Parts: sequence; C-alpha cells; structure tokens
Amino acid sequence: MANVVLSNVSKSYGNLEVIEGLNLAIKDGSFTVFVGPSGCGKSTLLRMIAGLEPITKGTLEIDGKPMNEADPIERGVAMVFQNYALYPHMSVEQNIGFSLRMAGLSKEDIAARVAVAAQTLQIEPLLKRKPGQLSGGQRQRVAIGRAIVRDPEVFLFDEPLSNLDAELRVSMRVEIAKLHNTLGSTMIYVTHDQTEAMTLADKIVVMRAGKIEQAGTPEELYDNPDNLFVAGFIGSPRMNFLRGAFGGGRLRLETGAEWAGAVPDGAVLVGVRPEHFVEPGHGAADVSVKVDVVENLGGTRFVYGTLGSGESVVVEARERGGIRAGDQISFGIKPERAMLFSPSGTRLRNL
Ligand SMILES: Nc1ncnc2c1ncn2[C@@H]1O[C@H](COP(=O)(O)OP(=O)(O)O)[C@@H](O)[C@H]1O
Ligand SMILES: [Mg+2]
Repeated sequence: MANVVLSNVSKSYGNLEVIEGLNLAIKDGSFTVFVGPSGCGKSTLLRMIAGLEPITKGTLEIDGKPMNEADPIERGVAMVFQNYALYPHMSVEQNIGFSLRMAGLSKEDIAARVAVAAQTLQIEPLLKRKPGQLSGGQRQRVAIGRAIVRDPEVFLFDEPLSNLDAELRVSMRVEIAKLHNTLGSTMIYVTHDQTEAMTLADKIVVMRAGKIEQAGTPEELYDNPDNLFVAGFIGSPRMNFLRGAFGGGRLRLETGAEWAGAVPDGAVLVGVRPEHFVEPGHGAADVSVKVDVVENLGGTRFVYGTLGSGESVVVEARERGGIRAGDQISFGIKPERAMLFSPSGTRLRNL
C-alpha cells in the first residue's frame, strides 16, 4: 500500500502541454477515479504514474520516494488496460503467471500466487483455457489477475470496462469494488463514465483539458460542484441549466418564473438536477413544460420537454404516472435545490 503524490506535474508533447502543473495527493488504500471527457489527459497522467511516459516537469512520489526516474518495475504499480492484451497462445494460467516467470520465481511460488488470484477473481475453472475461449468479461478478469499476482502497492486501471457490454460493465464494476475491499490496495482508476466514477470512487478527480476542475468525494461533487463544468459532468441525466437574470433582489427565469434571491446583478444560469424538481406549488416557482418524450424506466420516469423559453429540460417524475408526449405540465423549483452559475461557468453563491 502506498500514498501517491503528484506535485506541479506537467506533460508536454513538443509544444503541446497536455497536463498543466497538476497537484494531487492520493491516500494509501483509497480508490481514486480520474474522470473527464476524452482527450483531457487521464491516460497520460496514469501512464506517468506507471512510468510508461516521462514526466516533463514536477515530481511524482510513491510511498514517500521520488519516482520520476524509476523504472516501471521499481514503482510497485501494476496496470490494467482497456484492451486486455492477453497472449493468445498461452493458457489463462500462463498469462496470469507470465510476469512472475519473467521475474524468475519458482514454479511452486508462481502456482501458489496464480491460485490465489484465480480464487479471488473466481476464474479457477478457466485456468486451462486460452483467451480465445473466453468472454470479454472473463478476459478482463484474467487481465486483472495478471495485476493481482504482482502484489502491487498501487493498481492502475485505464478504462478497463469500456470494451464490455452494458450489463457486464455493471457486474464487473461491482467485482472491482469488492476487490478493492478485499485487497485494500491503493487503486487509481481512469474512466470517461461519470456513473463508474460515482459508484467506485472514494475520491473523484474531475479533469478538463489537462487540469483538475475539482477533486472530492462523490457526494461533495454532486451536492456542491465548484463550477458549471463539474455540475454538468456529474449526474445522469445531467443537470438542467436554465437561463435567467438577477436584479432588484429577484431572480427571473427566462421561461417566466421568479423568486427572491441575492447574487450579483446580471445574467445567471440556474442549475436544477432532473431529480430536484418538485410538485407544482411546492417550490418557490413553477415552470410549465411541453412534454416531448417520456422515458419510463419502471421504477422511475424521465420527462424530456421544452419550456416556454424554448429551452430543453429533463425532469424526473417518479411519482407522476400517465404523462404523455404532447401534454403541458408544471413542475416546481425549490431555490435551495437550485445552483446558480455565471454564464462563464463560475458558481455563484447566494449572498
Ligand atoms: N504520444 C502523443 N503525442 C502527442 N500528443 C499526445 C500523445 N498522447 C496523447 N496525446 C494528446 O494528449 C492529450 C491527452 O490524451 P489522453 O491522456 O490520452 O486523454 P484521455 O485519456 O483523457 O482521453 C490529447 O490531446 C492527446 O491527443
Ligand atoms: Mg484515455
């Protein structure tokens, strides 16, 4: 187990700076998820921790030791990739034990470690098979097994579930969470999927264009995003942002609802999560929605509609059955559940 500390870490490819002066302390034994849109630098950051990519500026410490110049093998890390890259001609057993054979361990030691990994991942019946005889989920388990046998201080996962179908992604997600509970190792996990980040992480690091937008627990990011980007990125379906303006002590939505408030005068975006609309008459203001589509999920339903201002909204209407496309219905907004942002994306707090 080990702390991982990045201080002022930058990465450039030629003139292109893809990571900019990044600072982050990852706690021993934590499950940290780097999340952000494609191209924001998640893999680059992970590969710098792994030692697969040189660090242009700044320092990396693992377990208190500087690691910028250390070989990957000396860092005590093991990485699991999106494309599992198993050796097709080797059995599962040989694939899992490969790095141990390279390291010169005895046959008995290798067999013992492979057996423990196989048991942890519940793939004992598959040990004699070749990768071609496995499903995608089973292959990814084998890839994780290769990491486990090395008994690393730090596990690094780069979008390990992205090649799996939706159902398998959910079950493997649970498996990885259990694995973290069992092993207690530091795990750093990269994904572009905010649901994976929310469900797996102790700490989420939201990245955009090579910088950290916000780092915190899933609850902190959901309840208290620092800016419009994080507010829109965390949560599914995403937060609605309604145009409005503040002046004379009142906030007016473009679609025609208003309530008292106190932020600097001028244009604002009012963020309301789909699950935070209430019954009409129960908030400070009601909005009228022309229903375009109702997505019924059984346990709950999402109403996709249009406001009088022409803005699109998504509203979760768990308790309201019988809504049809074409209906005109009202929902309430509670100011304490709405978040205010400047048009440039800064979070505005009520004064
Ligand atoms: N070898 C490379 N040479 C030049 N640019 C690269 C290289 N690898 C990655 N990049 C660029 O660095 C940025 C971050 O990439 P990456 O870390 O792969 O993003 P992510 O994993 O978040 O999708 C992207 O703009 C990408 O095009
Ligand atoms: Mg990537």
